Amino acid sequence: MSWLNIEDKVVVVTGGASGIGKAVTEAFLAQGSKVVVADMNPAAPVIDGMNEDNFLYAVADVTKAASVKSMIDKAVERFGSVDVMVNNAGINIPRLLVDPKDEGGQYELDEKVWDLVCNVNMKGVFFCAQAAARQMIKQGGGVIINMSSESGLEGSEGQSVYAATKNALNSLTRSWCKELGRHNIRVVGIAPGIMEATGLRTIKYETALAYTRNITVDQLRAGYSKTSTTPLGRSGKLSEVADAVCFMSSDRAGYVHGVTLNIAGGKTRG
Ligand SMILES: NC(=O)c1ccc[n+]([C@@H]2O[C@H](COP(=O)([O-])OP(=O)(O)OC[C@H]3O[C@@H](n4cnc5c(N)ncnc54)[C@H](O)[C@@H]3O)[C@@H](O)[C@H]2O)c1
Repeated sequence: MSWLNIEDKVVVVTGGASGIGKAVTEAFLAQGSKVVVADMNPAAPVIDGMNEDNFLYAVADVTKAASVKSMIDKAVERFGSVDVMVNNAGINIPRLLVDPKDEGGQYELDEKVWDLVCNVNMKGVFFCAQAAARQMIKQGGGVIINMSSESGLEGSEGQSVYAATKNALNSLTRSWCKELGRHNIRVVGIAPGIMEATGLRTIKYETALAYTRNITVDQLRAGYSKTSTTPLGRSGKLSEVADAVCFMSSDRAGYVHGVTLNIAGGKTRG
């Protein structure tokens, strides 16, 4: 038995085809867990450690309740339970509340962007947590992990909607811990700071964020490793988040409930 003892746990990771979710999937597979990756792309991702016995890909859109229910049904049908639900899928579209230089322009927040970011980052987590918790109550327990963000704690210039959805997750984590603890379901949040590049950090994203902060993309990039931004002076490794997720899902973290862990190299501002 390993120290974490999460061999044979059945884990569902939303957004597991890319970035942090992919690293989380690899970490669980390396520990001997069985993983269901749920993501939008019709083609299954290639993930280190996956094989026919320990891995299932479910095409799913977390903003659609029927799609989420089908994802949980597939996990149970294939592996018999859902022991860990990692609500990782998320999007970020930088926008200013008001752009005095270009009122109503491409970098000003509009209803479409508001709805899109809220739907994926909040409604998607609601649908997944509800469907997973129904199953966990039937089977006698489980762990729900919500992927928040350091920006949710402090707010973030140019990323107000994103930060708001992440702070909403921190609140949902606290409330659901009060509702689900009696069912032996722990609920924990993970709040990464600036990480190694993932699918979120596209040039479109960086251009939009730099615009909202009135700096260049090069200046934005230089900030990723500044100690004035992140006291450890470097971006976080995806594996550093994945390791924390594995720990939180294990009985080693058996009394950790309702809190969001900041994994951000000391960064506490947006
Ligand atoms: N990368 C960072 O620096 C960072 C920092 C803090 C928090 N986070 C959070 O970590 C999580 C993962 O981000 P990432 O950086 O790995 O991004 P990513 O873009 O690399 O991965 C996100 C995945 O989610 C999937 N996804 C998006 N919408 C979906 C939907 N409706 N249904 C199902 N899947 C969907 C995408 O297809 C993608 O595979 C997000 O919640 C993000 O907010 C990331």
